[in-house]
Amino acid sequence: MTQSPGQGQALDNLLTESRTFPPSDEFAAQANAQPALYEEAKADREAFWAKQAERLHWDTKWTQVLDWSDAPFAKWFVGGKLNVAYNCVDRHVESGHGDQVAIHWEGEPGDSRAITYGELQREVSKAANALTSLGIGAEDRVAIYMPMIPEAIFAMLACARVGAMHSVVFGGFSAEALRTRIEDSACRLVITTDGQYRRGTPAPLKPAVDEAVAGAPSVEKVIVVKRTDTEVAWMDKDVWWHELVDSQSDQHTPEAFDAEHPLFILYTSGTTGKPKGILHTSGGYLTQASYTQHHVFDLKPDTDVYWCTADIGWVTGHSYIVYGPLSNRVTQVVYEGTPNTPHEGRHWEIVQKYGVSIYYTAPTLIRTFMKWGAEIPAKFDLSSLRVLGSVGEPINPEAWIWYRENVGGGKAPIVDTWWQTETGAIMISPLPGVVSTKPGSAQRPLPGIGAKVVNDEGVEVPHGGGGYLVLDEPWPSMLRGIWGDEERYRETYWSRFAEQGFYFAGDGAKYDDDGDIWLLGRVDDVMNVSGHRISTTEVESALVSHPTVAEAAVVGASDATTGQGIVAFVILRGGAGSDAGGADAIKRLRDHVAKEIGPIAKPRQIMVVPELPKTRSGKIMRRLLRDVAENRAVGDVTTLADSSVMDLISAGLQSGKSED
Ligand code: WTA
Repeated sequence: MTQSPGQGQALDNLLTESRTFPPSDEFAAQANAQPALYEEAKADREAFWAKQAERLHWDTKWTQVLDWSDAPFAKWFVGGKLNVAYNCVDRHVESGHGDQVAIHWEGEPGDSRAITYGELQREVSKAANALTSLGIGAEDRVAIYMPMIPEAIFAMLACARVGAMHSVVFGGFSAEALRTRIEDSACRLVITTDGQYRRGTPAPLKPAVDEAVAGAPSVEKVIVVKRTDTEVAWMDKDVWWHELVDSQSDQHTPEAFDAEHPLFILYTSGTTGKPKGILHTSGGYLTQASYTQHHVFDLKPDTDVYWCTADIGWVTGHSYIVYGPLSNRVTQVVYEGTPNTPHEGRHWEIVQKYGVSIYYTAPTLIRTFMKWGAEIPAKFDLSSLRVLGSVGEPINPEAWIWYRENVGGGKAPIVDTWWQTETGAIMISPLPGVVSTKPGSAQRPLPGIGAKVVNDEGVEVPHGGGGYLVLDEPWPSMLRGIWGDEERYRETYWSRFAEQGFYFAGDGAKYDDDGDIWLLGRVDDVMNVSGHRISTTEVESALVSHPTVAEAAVVGASDATTGQGIVAFVILRGGAGSDAGGADAIKRLRDHVAKEIGPIAKPRQIMVVPELPKTRSGKIMRRLLRDVAENRAVGDVTTLADSSVMDLISAGLQSGKSED
C-alpha cells in the first residue's frame, strides 16, 4: 500500500487496490455492450446519442441533437415529440408482448401480484383518464406519497402520459417535509395510501397527508389507495382510488409531448437550506435511462428478471424501476418491504422465488448483509444472478468482494454505478463484459459521457492524483434546473468551475495508476490532517477491510496538534466475537488502518457503535458524528431515518469503552 506526498493536491490518494476481475469469455461474447461502443461515442458524440435516442418511439423526429447555446440550460433532441408512458408500456403491447410480466410485485406481508404489460397498459390508461377527469393535464404538478405498491408506478406513468409532472415524495418523510415540497411546486393533486407496511405492521400514512394538505392550499384533490385497510379520517378533498380510477375506461390515447416537456421534479436535500426541486424533462432523460439500463445491466428483455431494491421516492427508483426498465420491456421484481421482514433472508428468498438475474442495490444494504452474516444468503439458491449493481455511495472494496462472493457466486460482474439525482441516469460505471472490474472503483465514464478529476484550478490531475469530480460535457438526462430557482441552479452546480464550464458534482475523486476513477465521498466530508486532505471513504474502506468490521463512518474532529484528527465509528460484524470491541482489538484496528493506508490516516479514536446515523436513502450523516466527536450538542436530526440512533450512539459512548 502506498502513500502519496499530499502537498498541492486537492485530495490525497492513499489507498491502492490491485485486484481486478476480467469478464469471462462467455459473458463478454453475449454482452450488450461491446468495446467498440467507446470508440463510436468518441468519434461523434452527438451522432452517438442520436442513435441511442432511436431506441425510443418518436412521434416527430428531432431536428437538432443538442442545443447548448443557452448553457447551463440544455435542450436535447430539439423539435422531437414523444410520449414517455407510451414508450414504457404501449409499444411493448403493440409489438406482441402484452402477456409478458412487467412487474412481479411482492408485498411485505407476503401477498403478491403479477402484472403483464397488457394489464399495465390498462391500469395506466385508467389512471390517466382519472387524472383528466380531475382536470389534471400538461405541466400540472402531482405529488405522489406512497409505499412501494403497483399503484405508485401506475400513478407516475399516468402523469407522464397526460404530460403532468410528478413529484414523488418518499413515504418515510414527515408531514412537514411533504408540505414544503407540495408548496414549493404548487401541486394540485396528491396521490397517497391509507397506510403502509413497516416491518410487518401496518402504519398510517394518510394522517401526514391530511396535515400537509391543511397547510398547502394549492391541493385540490387527494386520491387515496386502500393498502392496509387502516381506518382514516375522510376530508372534503379525498377520493378513493378504487372509486375514481376503477370506473374509468381502460382505453386512452397518449398525446405526444415535446422532447423538453417537463417529466418530473424530485426534491433532494442540500447540505443547508430548503430542498432543491431537481427538474427533469422527457426525451433526453428517457434516452439516457434506457441506454444505460440496456448496457450497464446487460439487460435481455426476453430472459432476464431484474430487481432494483430502491424506493420510488429516490431517483434510483425513478430511473431504474420505472423509466429505464420499462422502456426496455423488462420483467422485474418490485418489493414493498424492508429486507429483514419477516427474516434476514427475505431478499434472497425473493431472488430464489423469481429467479432474479440482475440485482441492483446500495452499499449500505450490502454492509448490513455483511453484518447479518454470510450464512444467510448461503441458505438460498442464488445461482440465477448474473449481474450485480451498486449505487448511492462509494462501495468499500471489502463490501464489494463480499457481495461478489456471497451473492454473485464469485462470478457475476459488479457494476458500481456513479450518478446523482441531478444527472438523472448513470454516468460512470464499468460496462459488464467489456471492462475488467475493480473492487471499489466506478472506473470510467460511460460512452457518450464526459467526466474528469480536476484540481482547485480546474486542471485535470495526473494518474494517481486526487481532486474534484466534474462533468465536462452536457448529457441527455442532465437536470434542466432547480424548480423556481435559476440562480441557485447556476450557483450550486456551475459556479465552482464557471470559467471552464464544468458541472461540479460535489464529490471528491481520484484516478488510480490505470486512470480509473474512484469516488471519495462528498467534498464537504473531506478531512484535513496535518495538511493532508484525506477522504473519509478511504479510511472507512481500510476499516471495513478488517475481518471484524461490517461498517465504518469516519469524520474529522478538530485537533489542537494536527488541525483535524480522525475519529472512526465502527459497527462490528455478526460473529466478530465478544472481545472485538476491547482495548486490544481497537488498537489492532488502528494499526490495521496504518498498515493499509499509512500512519497519517491512523484514527485518533475508534468507537464501537450499534448503528450509524443515516438518511432515509441510506447515506451516512457524518455531520452528526462530527458533533459527537467534537462533544457538541447533536444538530438537526430531522432527515435521519431513525432519530433514536443518535441516542444509542451517545449512550454507548458514555459507557466509556470506546477509546484506546
Ligand atoms: C453518491 C443517487 C460513490 C455521490 C443515484 C453522489 C456515489 C450522490 C455512487 C448522489 C457511487 C452515488 N460511488 N458515490 N457508485 N453513487 N454516489 O442524488 O456522493 O441520491 O454525488 O443519487 O451519491 O446521490 P443521489
